[in-house]
Amino acid sequence: MTRSAFGGSMVGDERVDELRRRKAQAREGGGKDRIQAQHKKGKLTARERLDLLLDPGSFVETDAFVEHRTTDFGMDAKRIPGDGVVTGHGTIDGRTVFVFSQDFTVFGGSLGEMHANKIVKIMDTAMKVGAPVIGLNDSGGARIQEGVISLGGYAEIFFRNVLASGVIPQISAILGPCAGGAVYSPAMTDFIIMAKGTSNMFITGPEVIKAVTGEDVTFEDLGGATAHAAKSGVAHFAAPDEKAALRFVRKLLSYLPSNNVDDPPIVATDDEASRSDAELSQVVPKESDKPYDMRDVIRHVVDRDSWFEVHEEWAQNIVIGFARLEGRPVGVVGNQPKVQAGTLDINASIKAARFVRFCDCFNIPLLTFVDVPGFLPGKEQEYDGIIRNGAKLLFAFSEATVPKVTVITRKAYGGAYDVMCSKHIRGDFNFAWPSAELAVMGPEGAVPIIFKKEIEEAKDSRRREKELVTEYRDRFANPYIAARMGYLDDVIEPSETRPRVIDAFSVLRTKRESRPAKKHGNIPL
Ligand code: HXC
Repeated sequence: MTRSAFGGSMVGDERVDELRRRKAQAREGGGKDRIQAQHKKGKLTARERLDLLLDPGSFVETDAFVEHRTTDFGMDAKRIPGDGVVTGHGTIDGRTVFVFSQDFTVFGGSLGEMHANKIVKIMDTAMKVGAPVIGLNDSGGARIQEGVISLGGYAEIFFRNVLASGVIPQISAILGPCAGGAVYSPAMTDFIIMAKGTSNMFITGPEVIKAVTGEDVTFEDLGGATAHAAKSGVAHFAAPDEKAALRFVRKLLSYLPSNNVDDPPIVATDDEASRSDAELSQVVPKESDKPYDMRDVIRHVVDRDSWFEVHEEWAQNIVIGFARLEGRPVGVVGNQPKVQAGTLDINASIKAARFVRFCDCFNIPLLTFVDVPGFLPGKEQEYDGIIRNGAKLLFAFSEATVPKVTVITRKAYGGAYDVMCSKHIRGDFNFAWPSAELAVMGPEGAVPIIFKKEIEEAKDSRRREKELVTEYRDRFANPYIAARMGYLDDVIEPSETRPRVIDAFSVLRTKRESRPAKKHGNIPL
């Protein structure tokens, strides 16, 4: 033993060795065999995932020494430092984020009291400093040995998900099982990304379903990435594998501010703001019942290669996603004439409404492209509540106070005209292309109603109806009546859409709009 300059013995070295030994033990998680088993399933470990997610070398771990304090079921003999979740902070593209990464090699990543406490702690700090929380979920759910204490732990997280909602972005990557009530924390975060083949989410698993309803279903079919990205709409992104899922998280964050009083990052672009685009004139077919892909419009207007679609596989009759204009993020909503003629149905309304609200929470301006023949008719839609659900989108657009710019490319019929960020619900700049048709309904629907008698009494009813349809179209199915009323700020050539939209957002950069003070509104849920 040597003496230090301060007279103390240099036992420090041994203490440092002890610290290093303990940290190395924590890094091993559930041990080599379980790590091997994790890899065999095609899954990465909690720490490998963090290495891929965060900027190299930026991860700073906290609470590596935390252990559970359960003694039941022989748990006192099984304590593993870290308690099944790796927590801390790091950076993504240089910006601070808080992370938790569940470690399936430790008690199946199950969540008990101390595991929950670790997550709660980083959520609380993230809220104080205004940085996003990213959860990498891979867990057997509530730790059975800890009973109701685990449930309490979940509820502490749920409550914080709600407190953090609209204050800091919350992102969930599902990279393994996520079952039972555990699904509700990701469900209350802003975005869910699932990895195909290795992740699933469900309230009750295949065995319970078989016992209760007799249905046969596999884990993947029931709650895999494709099921949730295409059928339930629970997942916003289905990535081909874990690595891709983590890349999605990084990309998504590049469009988001760190909190609700921060600005989103600006990315340099060589795409000129003044760029006019002749191809836009070719996108909308001359025949008003012919489909086209609204994404072709979006891609030609926004900064080159900046379009990042959200919920690509679900409710495809509306498209939503992030893009940039002059390097600044915008949220884009567009009816999709290619799918169900772009009608609004229940799922499309819910999909777009939640996205609009997200953008509004985080000061991301909204660019809306409209080509909507109306709400989808049908008994099923009515019984499932198209009234209640369609109202969500109307509510969300009306409530949003971020800069709102709308471009009507073709149809804007009926109530859907009002809903799709019309002037009346406070669109800031509303433009239409010359191909726009703004009316209560299309000529084919309107003429037989308002000219019923005249058509019946005509010598050649079919010919007369055709004439009346043409007359109606010439008279009403155009943008000029709305423009005359000031419902449109301008009718613009398709090719000049990009510069006009950029100019509008630039003018709106200092927009301030307040609404009556209240506890909160009552969106029709
Ligand atoms: C404690 C658990 C656990 C849990 C798994 N383990 N789930 N320990 N509590 N909930 C342990 C296992 O005992 C095992 O420990 C290790 O994790 C790996 O589990 P395996 O079963 O070997 O792995 P695998 O075959 O991949 O199966 C994974 C699984 C399965 C599908 C997740 O383990 C499973 O069905 N677990 C139970 C899931 C569940 O019902 N959880 C409760 C959901 S309800 P050893 O030591 O053998 O390696 C819920 C309510 C939340 O979570 C409510 C919030 C309000």
